Amino acid sequence: MPHYHKLGKIPSKRHTQFRKPDGGLYAEQLVSTEGFSDLYSLTYHVHPPTKVLDIEDSYSIAPEVAIEKNLQHRSFQGFNIKPEADYLKSRVPVLVNNDLYLELAAPTKSMDDYFFKNSQATEVIFVHEGEGTLRTMYGNIDFGYGDHLVIPRGIIYKIDFKTEKNRLFIIESFSYVRFPKRYVNQAGQLLEHAPFYERDIRKPENLETHDEKGDFKVLIKRENRIWPYHYQTHPFDLIGWDGYHYPFAFSIHEFEPITGRLHQPPPVHQTFEGHNYVMCAFVPRLYDYHPKAIPAPYNHSNVDSDEVLYYVDGDFMSRKNVTRGMISLHPTGIPHGPHPGTVEKSIGKKETKELAVMVDTFKPLSLTKQALEIEDEGYFRTWLEE
Ligand SMILES: [Fe+2]
Repeated sequence: MPHYHKLGKIPSKRHTQFRKPDGGLYAEQLVSTEGFSDLYSLTYHVHPPTKVLDIEDSYSIAPEVAIEKNLQHRSFQGFNIKPEADYLKSRVPVLVNNDLYLELAAPTKSMDDYFFKNSQATEVIFVHEGEGTLRTMYGNIDFGYGDHLVIPRGIIYKIDFKTEKNRLFIIESFSYVRFPKRYVNQAGQLLEHAPFYERDIRKPENLETHDEKGDFKVLIKRENRIWPYHYQTHPFDLIGWDGYHYPFAFSIHEFEPITGRLHQPPPVHQTFEGHNYVMCAFVPRLYDYHPKAIPAPYNHSNVDSDEVLYYVDGDFMSRKNVTRGMISLHPTGIPHGPHPGTVEKSIGKKETKELAVMVDTFKPLSLTKQALEIEDEGYFRTWLEE
């Protein structure tokens, strides 16, 4: 999805002898997707990436589904998820289906004694609070408030947080995450009408080559289990790499909103898509400028999607009692819209400061046990009173 990129030293011809200063060979690794038929990178390790010392017993971290079938508007207090020191333990699945998991996390500590590799999903980590550095074998990406960190499936990573106050909204996607097809030309370039551009995509930099031997723990997630692998060599020992398969960051603050004389439909807010879902970013923008425009959205029922909104910051003109980190779930085909009184109030308003991330899934979402613990009871009745 992103463009060709390279870091460090690589041989002039692929699959040829590439020697270290001491005369030994670097170990080439092809990291490929879709059965060697789609995006890939060629990487050059100081040591072969195959030196497994040990594998501990695997254990389950499968989401515990509490309500499998849902047809009720619901809302959840995302910030009521308890902070937790360990990054992996901090990740709480809230809404799940066979295409993706939506998770919340409030990790307080950096990943000091292990690396993580998600072998079942590409991750989009939306950083609501916190800053730090995402470290991978492809290089590092500094991140902060508002970043989407896109980590394709199979990339080993580690996160260093700067402080203990971190809030993450994580999309675990079982298909690859791409920009909307309509924004990309045949060569893969973002088109002029897209609300973002290649310069807004932050690629890995500062490649660190760790030529170290020891015992390096990599927790690998596959089929909702963690497999604790121990490697003899440091996973980040690349001297160089090139290709299209690597992690990147895109900040919600770089999204340029598309506005109009009349209310624009949700797809204008789209950022990413995967199999059976889309992601959107609602950002501060000018309201519709027809003289009789109604800035509040119309009531709507999306007959094909469950609609999940994660509220980040700013004012949410069409909703009452919205808090930071709140999640609303509006299931397929059940109409929802502005809360009572908010339509008239919106008339004449010139701009909104709202910031939110939306995920629309084309298959129904189930609720986990932890989702029920942070649910606002009776949300489905909140349209009754003026
Ligand atoms: Fe909606």
